[in-house]
Amino acid sequence: MDALEVHGGATLAGEVGVAGAKNSALKLMAAALLAEGDTRLERVPDIADVAAMRAVLEHLGVAVARDGETLTCSVGPGLRTDTPPHLVQRLRASIVVLGPLLARHGHARLAQPGGCDLGHRGIDLHLQGLEMLGARITRDADAIVAEAPPGGLVAGDFELPYASVGATENLLMAAVCARGVTVIGNAAREPEIVDLAAMLQAMGARIEGAGTEEIRIEGVAVEDLRPTTHRVVGDRIEAGTYAVAGALCGGEVTVRGVDPAHLRLPLEKLAEAGASVDTEPGAVTVRRERGLRAIDVATLPFPGFPTDLQPPVTVLLTQAAGTAMVTENVFDSRFRLVEELRALGADAELAGHHAIIRGPSPLRGAAVRATDLRAGAALVLAGLCASGTTLVRDAAHIERGYMDLPGKLAALGARVRRVPASQPASQATPQAAPVGARA
Ligand code: UD1
Repeated sequence: MDALEVHGGATLAGEVGVAGAKNSALKLMAAALLAEGDTRLERVPDIADVAAMRAVLEHLGVAVARDGETLTCSVGPGLRTDTPPHLVQRLRASIVVLGPLLARHGHARLAQPGGCDLGHRGIDLHLQGLEMLGARITRDADAIVAEAPPGGLVAGDFELPYASVGATENLLMAAVCARGVTVIGNAAREPEIVDLAAMLQAMGARIEGAGTEEIRIEGVAVEDLRPTTHRVVGDRIEAGTYAVAGALCGGEVTVRGVDPAHLRLPLEKLAEAGASVDTEPGAVTVRRERGLRAIDVATLPFPGFPTDLQPPVTVLLTQAAGTAMVTENVFDSRFRLVEELRALGADAELAGHHAIIRGPSPLRGAAVRATDLRAGAALVLAGLCASGTTLVRDAAHIERGYMDLPGKLAALGARVRRVPASQPASQATPQAAPVGARA
């Protein structure tokens, strides 16, 4: 597995464009299963997780073709309804094929899911929701088996005990063809849910309330769903990562291709920490004009602070004056990053689901490990403000979700490049010219 070598000290300046949202594209690909014919998805990021979802769809019998940023999913009349373990374990989000397969074929057999190792990641809410639509769920040694009742899924009311993004999406895709009106209470309100609902509506589904905590779905016959063309919403997490990079090492960084409303709280937090933030339709500009100050951040479902931006902001806070508290309410294991930051010289300690960070502390380059996707990107940001050279190992995690992170940062003036994993940090050449993509 390759590593990223980052030379610290550069000021970032310029413009960067973001891709379509990973967390939307994966679900839109699953939604294509609902209608026979060619579904065209535009602005699909070319990242490893999309390749993994593509492999899942191809296994199910879908022909998938990429032409630039457009992915065409050609769905025939019959699909396989089983997903093999090696594919599902590559991508936890592949559990969202359960809803569409049940809706369309009344049966799905899903190997136990994998993906980013973020501590306890249950799927109980997905399964409870599908049961509420009449599905019978059983488990055998290595798979979950879901069967719809003989006449197909039936509508129902389900109040999610927690506003789970994945469970809301799975339930939404199952309910579009359930007989009657389904109400999902305490639904997740993330922009990616709104994007999925918009595509399902264009396919013929009847949905109200996506983006609020109550979604109402009036079931339609599966034969009435038709393929569509849909453009993926901009990736607010990728955009937020570059906005944090701008606050950390700007200069002035403009991030294009994102709706600033999707980043309202993170941008407020950046401003509170002392960065200058300007927005315009489709773009955000972040400037670092003075020293940063400590702030408190607590992750919550949207519109709360996104857990996926907690790692980059934790890095930012190592450079802010004062004591900051970061509270992680969504994923148990997101703080494995803190140990890696301490290896770079951060003054940070953990207390349960809180991290206490005292700053500013000078970071010194060292070899560190990307423990997951977002921690990996955050460590690259840490390397940008560390002295000397930082080697971020296990960079494949980063490629699961960021399209050409080294190239985009290099275009802003960072010195970051891909190197073979075996290279020790000490062999890195601080004078090396910036190299964006693969070395
Ligand atoms: C999605 C995103 C992920 C983001 C997260 C929260 C994708 C591919 N991933 O993940 O990047 O960090 O939303 O914004 O879109 N939970 C249960 N039982 C369930 C479902 C969830 O206990 O049935 C728990 C999880 O273990 C976790 C929390 O709820 O602690 C949040 O999960 P959820 O909102 O479902 O996130 P994902 O859809 O997995």
